[in-house]
Amino acid sequence: MESFTITPGRPLRGTIVVPGDKSITHRAIILTALANGVSRIARYCRGEDCLNTMRALQALGVRMDESADELCVHGKGLWGLTEPSGPIDCGNSGTGIRLLTGLLAGQDFFTVLTGDESIRRRPMGRIVKPLREMGASIAGRKGGELAPLAVTGSRLRAITYTSPVASAQIKSALLLAALFAEGTSRITEPRLSRDHTERMFQFFGIGLTRDETTLLVEGRPSVGWNGVPQLVVPGDFSAAAFFIVGATIVPGSDVTIQHVGINPTRTGLLDVMLRMGADIQLLNRREEAGEPVADIRVKSARLHGVAVGPELIPQTIDEFPVLCVAAAVAAGETVISGAEELRVKESDRIATISVELRAMGARITEQPDGMTVRGLGTTEKNGFLQAGHGRSHGDHRVAMSLAIAGLTALAPTVIDETACIATSFPVFQRTLLELLTERQ
Ligand code: S3P
Repeated sequence: MESFTITPGRPLRGTIVVPGDKSITHRAIILTALANGVSRIARYCRGEDCLNTMRALQALGVRMDESADELCVHGKGLWGLTEPSGPIDCGNSGTGIRLLTGLLAGQDFFTVLTGDESIRRRPMGRIVKPLREMGASIAGRKGGELAPLAVTGSRLRAITYTSPVASAQIKSALLLAALFAEGTSRITEPRLSRDHTERMFQFFGIGLTRDETTLLVEGRPSVGWNGVPQLVVPGDFSAAAFFIVGATIVPGSDVTIQHVGINPTRTGLLDVMLRMGADIQLLNRREEAGEPVADIRVKSARLHGVAVGPELIPQTIDEFPVLCVAAAVAAGETVISGAEELRVKESDRIATISVELRAMGARITEQPDGMTVRGLGTTEKNGFLQAGHGRSHGDHRVAMSLAIAGLTALAPTVIDETACIATSFPVFQRTLLELLTERQ
């Protein structure tokens, strides 16, 4: 079992980069695989989740040449995928398994998709049900509610579907299936979830019309799209989030994170932290592969609690574990509501982060749809947590959030089960150490 120790007492200082965005990397791999000709994906995320999607496309007959900072994809065109000889293992990745199921529903071959123990617990009915409405033939445990999923490719028809959940994974699975379906699909979600698939469709020139939270996609386009000489993946805002919170709560910190994606469907944490009193600047704004990018500079600041309601959930969804760390040391109360989706992530994040932070002295109580955090801070300064012995529950974002919590503890904190960090941010520990050892 891997673990590491966080020794507090030093500020975070310096300039870093974070891995390429995990969500964008999944989509870049899939859409370049379906393109005509070769594409190069620069600064892609080399976390296990994305490597599993890369291996899946390789198993579907797409050649990919990997180097440390560039992935060269030899696209096979819209109809060029071939039947894999064995089951596809998506590892820990909800995005991987759901997007691939959408992609494979309309092929003319058979595939089995599975993943690790966490993936085999997560809800798949949310994509299986609408895909079956399109004519897909998908079998799975509990009637298709749970993976493994066995997909017998079928001739799909377009769908008009309103998703009950604001989920980019549902939306993207259906958008990919819609490409192979007869007719025009119309997909609506209750609030706008991350829109990387839509932006990347537009980047490749794939026909898609947006009308607020409704998307229209023409199936079976008569001409496909071409590969691109270079697609540069922005740094992952969800990886940057750990240092945004860390630099804010550790006194004397000053950190710049370069080349980070600041797509507004992802940056709810910035809005919440600014309302809490954080000192965050966005510098050098630019655009990369149809996505807004900036350098983010963060200095330490005193925080106070705020309310985070349902309207802010989709754009903050992956940042709640680390936001709870900020709330735990802030002055006053933070109330997070409308966030029941957190219960079906890599772990039940409402339960896991509450249990773990409480063990470090945080005053945090679970609600069915969120949590209430009574911060330890005063109006003069942020509070301190107690040293602890944390456990990730196999969830990468819980592991990294506990590491950030440990930075404000009064003595070293040990975090167990940290191997899962490699799913999204294999160099997390090294990046954190860089900031802690920068010459003061
Ligand atoms: C993701 C969408 C989100 C997010 C996940 C990545 C994506 O999940 O939590 O980490 O890449 O589409 P939902 O779409 O289920 O909310």
